[in-house]
Amino acid sequence: MSALRLDPKKKYVWRGCGVPEEAFSFCGRDVVIQESFGGGGEAAIIWPAAIIMGRYLEANKDSVVDRNVIELGAGTGLTGIVASLLGAKVTLTDTKEALESTSINVGRNTKKVRHAPKVQQLRWGADLHMYPESDHYDYILGADIIYIEDTFPDLLRTLRHLCDRDTVILLASKIRYPRDERFYSMLRQEYDVRVVKEDREEEVKIYKATLPRRDVAAMPC
Ligand SMILES: C[S@@+](CC[C@H](N)C(=O)[O-])C[C@H]1O[C@@H](n2cnc3c(N)ncnc32)[C@H](O)[C@@H]1O
Repeated sequence: MSALRLDPKKKYVWRGCGVPEEAFSFCGRDVVIQESFGGGGEAAIIWPAAIIMGRYLEANKDSVVDRNVIELGAGTGLTGIVASLLGAKVTLTDTKEALESTSINVGRNTKKVRHAPKVQQLRWGADLHMYPESDHYDYILGADIIYIEDTFPDLLRTLRHLCDRDTVILLASKIRYPRDERFYSMLRQEYDVRVVKEDREEEVKIYKATLPRRDVAAMPC
């Protein structure tokens, strides 16, 4: 990942205490996200994939209304916040250390939503006991969460745990290294995967993955 520094292309608003904020308009609403460059690592800044995923959800807004959505590696929470503004029942998740940033931004930006979002700890692989397999998610979202190869097996295990035959996984990714492609090769071994959106300027693609449908007619009796 690139080093954490201010992006000259972005317009930041500085609050008195020196915390940068970025303002967006999504779903006709102002969304103001607080970022922290002093600490919090990757989770504390908004990555372009999160904005591109937010725009994708906004363009397909009817599909998430009243649906169960879980976001993995939410960081500042922008993607999950947009899903919440669109009327989804959202659970935003990240590691325990990252959740402060997520909670602050969710609290500020989801005051008048159809379903109050939840912010919960989910370290991939480790915290699955907090998510009963009987819970159904219509969508699993992840923006820029494919970058640490060591986490790939746990992330795949987490997807397997949360996903059922009616779940749609949407992952927005910037492919930086061959290992990122390797993740998608692993994903393709279990899911039908296709690219549903490409942003050439930011070099971000959104991948849609679903479990293969069982062909009932072809099954032996
Ligand atoms: C590059 S940031 C992306 C943040 C946000 N989705 C965005 O696009 O702005 C990657 C996120 O994945 C989270 N993450 C990394 N490893 C994780 C793990 N093992 N379990 C859960 N979350 C993890 C980080 O805390 C961070 O929030």
